[in-house]
Amino acid sequence: MREILEELERRREAARQGGGQRRIDAQHAKGKLTARERISVLLDEESFEEWDIFVEHRCADFDMADKAVPGDGVVTGHGTINGRTVFVFSQDFTVLGGSLSEAHAGKICKVMDHAMRVGAPVIGLNDSGGARIQEGIDSLAGYAEVFQRNVLASGVIPQISMIMGPCAGGAVYSPAITDFIFMVRDTSYMYVTGPEVVKTVTHETVTHEELGGATTHSSRSGVADGAFDNDVEALLSLRRFIDFLPASNVDEAPQREVADPVDRAEASLDTLIPDNPNKPYDMHELITKVVDDGDFFELKPDFAGNILIGFGRMGGATVGIVANQPMVLAGCLDIQSSIKAARFVRFCDAFSIPIVTFVDVPGFLPGTAQEYGGIIRHGAKLLYAYAECTVPKVTVITRKAYGGAYDVMASKHLRGDVNLAWPSAEIAVMGPKGAVEIIFREDIGDQEKIAQRTEEYRQKFANPFVAGHRGFIDDVILPSETRTRICRSLSMLRNKQLDNPWRKHGNIPL
Ligand code: HXC
Repeated sequence: MREILEELERRREAARQGGGQRRIDAQHAKGKLTARERISVLLDEESFEEWDIFVEHRCADFDMADKAVPGDGVVTGHGTINGRTVFVFSQDFTVLGGSLSEAHAGKICKVMDHAMRVGAPVIGLNDSGGARIQEGIDSLAGYAEVFQRNVLASGVIPQISMIMGPCAGGAVYSPAITDFIFMVRDTSYMYVTGPEVVKTVTHETVTHEELGGATTHSSRSGVADGAFDNDVEALLSLRRFIDFLPASNVDEAPQREVADPVDRAEASLDTLIPDNPNKPYDMHELITKVVDDGDFFELKPDFAGNILIGFGRMGGATVGIVANQPMVLAGCLDIQSSIKAARFVRFCDAFSIPIVTFVDVPGFLPGTAQEYGGIIRHGAKLLYAYAECTVPKVTVITRKAYGGAYDVMASKHLRGDVNLAWPSAEIAVMGPKGAVEIIFREDIGDQEKIAQRTEEYRQKFANPFVAGHRGFIDDVILPSETRTRICRSLSMLRNKQLDNPWRKHGNIPL
């Protein structure tokens, strides 16, 4: 018996060695952790239950029979993060470059299937040279099995991808379908075709990092939701992030004990808005001052900065926050910001996370680039997302809420549950100057008259009370009481019931 037990340990140890010490050293030399080291940082200590450690590929072509490594380049199983179950797969670059074989894909599919059955998130730690070249189409079939599961799991369990090495070719489409993609700076990259192919086809010279590194995807393409400096920072941030999320679409997000009082007044907010309506202020300040303990997990912070999205807690419960940012493009909605916020709103709705929207929006960004780029279609995404969602929606207009953008930003008309405005709110079809120049076009040469008309318009419309008269906002509140009023509204909305009419699915303008 003893020998049998020793044999088990010997086999396990062989699997733990992955591609061997030389390749582990090479992984470390690149500043990367191994697949197992990553799991040990991500999960609670001693919580990992590994599955399929003995799985090997069955390929015999190209001398592959001699290259079978237990586990076949991916470590899979489940464990806990702060006591809550998650399923994990972590690709092992030391084994055949973490390339995906049929067996490797089968292991990923197994954890995904279980995650769906029990209702728990799946976290993928991606570090792979792509399709196992020696296996050819069996590998492609494996990818498609994963893609199909990604799609069916979408909106059922949270799926999170951490890109920690190469992720190229069609392989990018599994992370692309997951809810959130995070990347590690300098060691990870994602692209559909690499620099060599780009050079051949378009004659552009570009490095891996420029083409698909973390900075590119977190600031330029918007593919990534965040970028971290190294593996440890990335994995610890992921632990913090997952705490905001429910385990599945039939669970509630975890409720935290909080010391931060829900009725905390924040006097400094009374002076946040500058006297000059054209002067910006930082919307981050408002967000961090109203959420519990100033804890805001911002997503896509370096992409489409004219809108801010992310998770916080209010009264201990997770909320999704969407806010126009006057510091960037005066807070205008444009193509990128509409897409950024729309996808986030849909995530929150799918997982029953209430949405708090802070509005300071002068309208949609004008210009040929926007029109030719399809702002009509893309702006419609955000409108659609807000109009479709049934979770509690609390909206606070801090300053400008003009035109169509007023309607879009979780207005009362799109089933906003509680719509509040600060006294500085200007809710109107457009700003005073633009309005006067249209209505009183004949007076344009007369500066004095225009100034007088503009002031008249400002007095009449650039305030929250016209909307207040109609019940389009429920109350005008002091900025300092914003946290209290939102927390009370969310507490009132806790058991909100609202269903959309039955349909197979809607047809969001993609
Ligand atoms: C089999 C692979 C492999 C792959 C790497 N290896 N990629 N084995 N299939 N796709 C092996 C290498 O042979 C090597 O084995 C080890 O992994 C480490 O690779 P290196 O090249 O030494 O590492 P590095 O210099 O860091 O370069 C990493 C890399 C490069 C940039 C990823 O390996 C590379 O270009 N690989 C091929 C990428 C590729 O073309 N993949 C197919 C894409 S198409 P030894 O034994 O020496 O350690 C695709 C389609 C997906 O993925 C479709 C989904 C629908």
